[in-house]
Amino acid sequence: MTMDKSNIDAVSLVSALRRRLETVGMSAAQASLRSGLGRSVVADILSGKSANPGISTLAKIAAALGIGVADLLAAAGAPEMGGGLAGRTVLLVIGGGIAAYKSLDLIRRLRERGALVRVVMTKAATEFVTPLAAGALSGGRVFTGLFDRDDEHDVGHIRLAREADAVVVAPATADLMARMAAGRTDDLATAVLLATRAPVLLAPAMNPKMWSHPATVRNVATLRADGIRFVGPNAGEMAERGEVGLGRMAEPLEIAAAVEAIFGGGALAGRHVIVTSGPTHEPIDPVRYLGNRSSGRQGHAIAAAAARAGARVTLVAGPVAIPDPPGVTVVHVETAGEMLDAVTAALPADAAVFAAAVADWRAARPQVEKIKKKAGGPPALALTENPDILATVAYRKKDRPRLVIGFAAETQDLLANATKKLKAKGADWIVANDVSPEAGVMGGEQNTVHIISASGIEDWPRLAKGEVAERLVAKIAAALA
Ligand SMILES: Cc1cc2nc3c(=O)[nH]c(=O)nc-3n(C[C@H](O)[C@H](O)[C@H](O)COP(=O)(O)O)c2cc1C
Repeated sequence: MTMDKSNIDAVSLVSALRRRLETVGMSAAQASLRSGLGRSVVADILSGKSANPGISTLAKIAAALGIGVADLLAAAGAPEMGGGLAGRTVLLVIGGGIAAYKSLDLIRRLRERGALVRVVMTKAATEFVTPLAAGALSGGRVFTGLFDRDDEHDVGHIRLAREADAVVVAPATADLMARMAAGRTDDLATAVLLATRAPVLLAPAMNPKMWSHPATVRNVATLRADGIRFVGPNAGEMAERGEVGLGRMAEPLEIAAAVEAIFGGGALAGRHVIVTSGPTHEPIDPVRYLGNRSSGRQGHAIAAAAARAGARVTLVAGPVAIPDPPGVTVVHVETAGEMLDAVTAALPADAAVFAAAVADWRAARPQVEKIKKKAGGPPALALTENPDILATVAYRKKDRPRLVIGFAAETQDLLANATKKLKAKGADWIVANDVSPEAGVMGGEQNTVHIISASGIEDWPRLAKGEVAERLVAKIAAALA
């Protein structure tokens, strides 16, 4: 068999065809009828008896299945045609949430990366999107019922579970997570989820009050302990008007990147990235400290995005009130001195992103006992300079990361000050953001940044911090490639 652009062998193509026929529930006889090929020709090809089937014959069977040759090559594992999920079967479980419409785009994103996508929908999910739409986009039939005679006869929940290389639940509703955490199997989705031994990735989506409810928090902790992976939820506006908070489903591209990362793929696979995040607290005495308003949201989002892109990530986090991102090694510190020690201990790295708002000064003589209020006025507070973590790492000779990225939080002359910082600190890029109170960046959900490098200034629009993180990680991956 001669095939351009690919060294995929006939055996892989035939087994990709066979898998696809099974997915859509089409028999060899039906494939013969639809392709116009003789029954015995199709049967011999599918059984492997026909040792060297021509590509045009295989293309005819593929066409009967409604797929093109490129799709077939991707499913058979041609990396140049398929992307990071070539040859993988991803079982997508769509739950009954308003975000189900985004899962239709997710099907496309997974297929673009070469995955064969099988879709299971909960009964509630069919209220939000139709199996017809999901089937048209996945190129296969959609499975909905545990007790559906056709579903069980053709594939069955155990086979759906066994034949998946990864299971993605998007949107993962509060209800689905509760049923999973309890080990219930009262529908096809939960039966498959209990029966599978493939990695499972959940993309939760719900109202922020549902997400932060102790019952959901408990279920998420149980599922994490069971080895279930999570992507999102993100912060932002909800479908309900006026509702803002943590609960938006991760974007399809983020979910697709998280699936790639499961298989060690992703744009930062094999890289080590260090990220600092949050404020530092510099003690004055045992109860008082110097600090700032940084929430850690931007740095944590960058760490999470780098992990989704396949990097090994060390996040050195100051005192923050947000949870550790999944799939990341987190070192919790309090002071600038501790942060510097943790960063140097984590070297070497391919890239370091210093997003923490490190205190410039600390108390020169922190007191061991609480300073007492005395008559005669407040005590003088002598300050001393903290180490400059960005400059220290950027000027290291031996193990300087290839890419050193600093953040400049300014309230005036943003670009001029950030450009000065780039040169003075020896950084490769400075991510400059305006943190004046009216910008609402400190502690907020959005950020407007400018990327300053030797080659000029890139102005990015106002974006959710998660999106800034995704873009920055894509830029880092391109620079390291
Ligand atoms: C309009 C509407 C939107 C909903 N959106 C969500 C949602 O985003 N997240 C969620 O957890 N539940 C949501 N629900 C509730 C679920 O649909 C309900 O809990 C259902 O039983 C979930 O079934 P499933 O887990 O089998 O998919 C919504 C319900 C309605 C009527």
